Amino acid sequence: MNITMIGGGYVGLVSGACLAAIGASVTIVERDPTRLAHLRHGHVPIYEPGLNTLFRQGLKQQTLYFTDNLHDALIKSEVVFIAVGTPTRRGGGHADLSYVYAAAHDIAHLAPHDLLVVTKSTVPVGTGREVARILTTTRPDLRFHIASNPEFLREGNAITDFMNPDRIIIGLDQQSSDQGKSARTLLSTLYAPLITAQNRLVFMGLESAELTKYAANAFLAMKVTFANEMADLCEATGAHIDDVTRGIGLDPRISSDFLTPGPGYGGSCFPKDTRALATSARKAGTPIQLIETTIAINDARKRRLAERILTLIGNHINTTTIAVLGLTFKANTDDMREAPSLTILPILHEAGATLRVFDPHGMEQARSLLPAGLFYAQNALDALHSADMLLILTEWPEFKELSPLLLQKHMRGRLILDYRNLWVADALLQAGFTYQQLGASSP
Ligand code: UDX
Repeated sequence: MNITMIGGGYVGLVSGACLAAIGASVTIVERDPTRLAHLRHGHVPIYEPGLNTLFRQGLKQQTLYFTDNLHDALIKSEVVFIAVGTPTRRGGGHADLSYVYAAAHDIAHLAPHDLLVVTKSTVPVGTGREVARILTTTRPDLRFHIASNPEFLREGNAITDFMNPDRIIIGLDQQSSDQGKSARTLLSTLYAPLITAQNRLVFMGLESAELTKYAANAFLAMKVTFANEMADLCEATGAHIDDVTRGIGLDPRISSDFLTPGPGYGGSCFPKDTRALATSARKAGTPIQLIETTIAINDARKRRLAERILTLIGNHINTTTIAVLGLTFKANTDDMREAPSLTILPILHEAGATLRVFDPHGMEQARSLLPAGLFYAQNALDALHSADMLLILTEWPEFKELSPLLLQKHMRGRLILDYRNLWVADALLQAGFTYQQLGASSP
């Protein structure tokens, strides 16, 4: 099946490369000339484990193409996916849909024949219907089918998530003349190689599919925030968060996933999608207070942890060197969007601390986002050099491998603030460190 994917960003690239790998012929339409040049020369502009391999395979087998010419792409396609960005609009929680609607207008103007138009971008409820309106009013001479097909890809895990989905959600326009049957047929064929006995294609209405995406992310963000608040209570009461999350996680209705405390969620999805959902819900007259509170707690947590560090250091701040391991919003990504480091480090820097920072993949992006005057280390050991304390903000596996002996050898001080609960306290305490993690009172 020939498909066009509009948007060579995170979702478009991963989805396009994976669909090419399961038998489709995919043309990715990217308007940014620099990004397009990278793609055409086989350079993947994002760090996503496994994407490079799929990318090269698609280019080699000629199942993956890149262009800025939507018309040429549509001529040979029967399905076109809209996979453009829907960032949070400045000054409020609304999702910026200008790129989505621009793509809809472009499709309408350039469509050479009837098309199935599938929205893969995360869009507020009702967007698909507006896309349909744009298409049919602009080109009454053609028949457009529309569908919603939200993605559930985790950065750093996206290929696995795409190739082993626990469900594939398809929203159909049941108000259309064929009740969405054409979309059902085409998308069932396209995704057939991914369907196993354990998962399935789930068909529902357009609005339900659009809301499912937000509901999934908002619920996960709320679950993480619940763990973070439970961690605070554990610290205050002598309980241990690992025991509590194990204790509740054994209930399959709860499960232990997404109950690891951290410095607050970040990334390009949770913050954006929770805000967009809260805004849409308020606009619809049905505010979702659980999510509004989740957003407030999460924003405050990042600041509160920075204040906690300042209180711990006290008036030695101007002579304190802090080694910071981890800048990205989570491990296995180079993405700095809404990373806790972007809130915490400026506060520490402003207070006078000397910061030696390192991240395996986020350094380039971090430099342009963090204040000038930070020391960007060559590697973790370089960051640790003569540091009075160590702050862990991202759970990169290579940090977990650092032994107490190595930490002792490179650090000047003996204080560790592990905000990703990477290590077990005993080994560090025996090595003479003061070790503070989240969700357990320090001995
Ligand atoms: C998320 C959703 O998981 C994915 O399905 C959706 O398509 C996009 O948004 P992603 O943003 O890549 O994926 O990251 P995810 O792994 O979900 O983590 C989100 C945030 O929660 C990160 O900041 C992470 O550090 C934090 N987190 C996650 C925790 O603090 N504790 C956890 O136990 C899990």
